[in-house]
Amino acid sequence: MDKIPVILDGDPGHDDAIAWVFAKASPKFDIKAVTSVAGNQTIEKTTINARRICALLGIDAPVARGAVKPMTADPVTAGNWHGDSGLDGPAMPEPDQELSELPAVDLMAKVIRESETPVTIIATGPQTNVAQLLIAHPEVKDKIGKISIMGGGVTHGNWSPAAEFNIFEDPEAAWIEFHSGIPLQMCGLDVTERAIIRPDDFPRIRGIGNQVADIVAGWLEFFYRYPMEIGYDGAPVHDPCAVLSLTHPEIFKMQDLYVDIELEGEYTRGETVADFIGSSGKRPNVTCVLDIDRDRYIDLLVEALHAFDCREVKI
Ligand code: RIB
Ligand code: CA
Repeated sequence: MDKIPVILDGDPGHDDAIAWVFAKASPKFDIKAVTSVAGNQTIEKTTINARRICALLGIDAPVARGAVKPMTADPVTAGNWHGDSGLDGPAMPEPDQELSELPAVDLMAKVIRESETPVTIIATGPQTNVAQLLIAHPEVKDKIGKISIMGGGVTHGNWSPAAEFNIFEDPEAAWIEFHSGIPLQMCGLDVTERAIIRPDDFPRIRGIGNQVADIVAGWLEFFYRYPMEIGYDGAPVHDPCAVLSLTHPEIFKMQDLYVDIELEGEYTRGETVADFIGSSGKRPNVTCVLDIDRDRYIDLLVEALHAFDCREVKI
């Protein structure tokens, strides 16, 4: 089976890290690059976290530092969810490779330009790097096969009543992406808040008994801390949906819709406005992922973690 070349772009972030577990474990993907973006924490923190996650999982692709801040707004971080480091909880290995000398946007363009087949970008943070790639290197656009994102929500927000964090952080970047014409798959809060991992799932993860599973169990136990305080009955592990909706679309419900990004609204800036009634008169530009079989999600996490049964690194 020909593997799909992918770029992992994110702001790790506990759920970004678990998304990368799924990506590394999948036999369908050839990970060509990992790029960090400011979001859950500052770019310095998300970049070292990305490098440490790659060392833990054995992702030997180059890692490049991405955008320091959103395109126009001031950066907002989510330390309440992810802690001061952005990946609080279990100890992690030190990076096992140097940071790429290229900035994220140039590494992305290089990978796409050199790829023999179209590249899929899996972006689980603010969409700043993707937008800046399309601005700085328009010539590679036709070789981007698909962009799969965690972001937005067609019914509600989580950082404002209308906007989800990744899109709230950089709506201008999302606008560029949603108007690019590139095939786009959006895993918004509608599905990702149903990708919830509950405390009674945690022993099954920890019981797998390998180093990566132990660390993922530790990430879940930390990541659950804040949502528990605000009334969730588990940890909404958002980002893996952007990977699994590519590798296992059968466990999701999806609908093609026209979606636009609100840039001006006093209360709605960053909202992903989905046209369910056709009033825009515009053709769908996004495949919206709207629901998930949660039990299969947990089963697939256990299956993915067993891919690391023979791996242990020095910490
Ligand atoms: O709103 C959830 C999203 O914001 C996730 O990608 C999480 O990692 C944060 O980036
Ligand atoms: Ca993220």
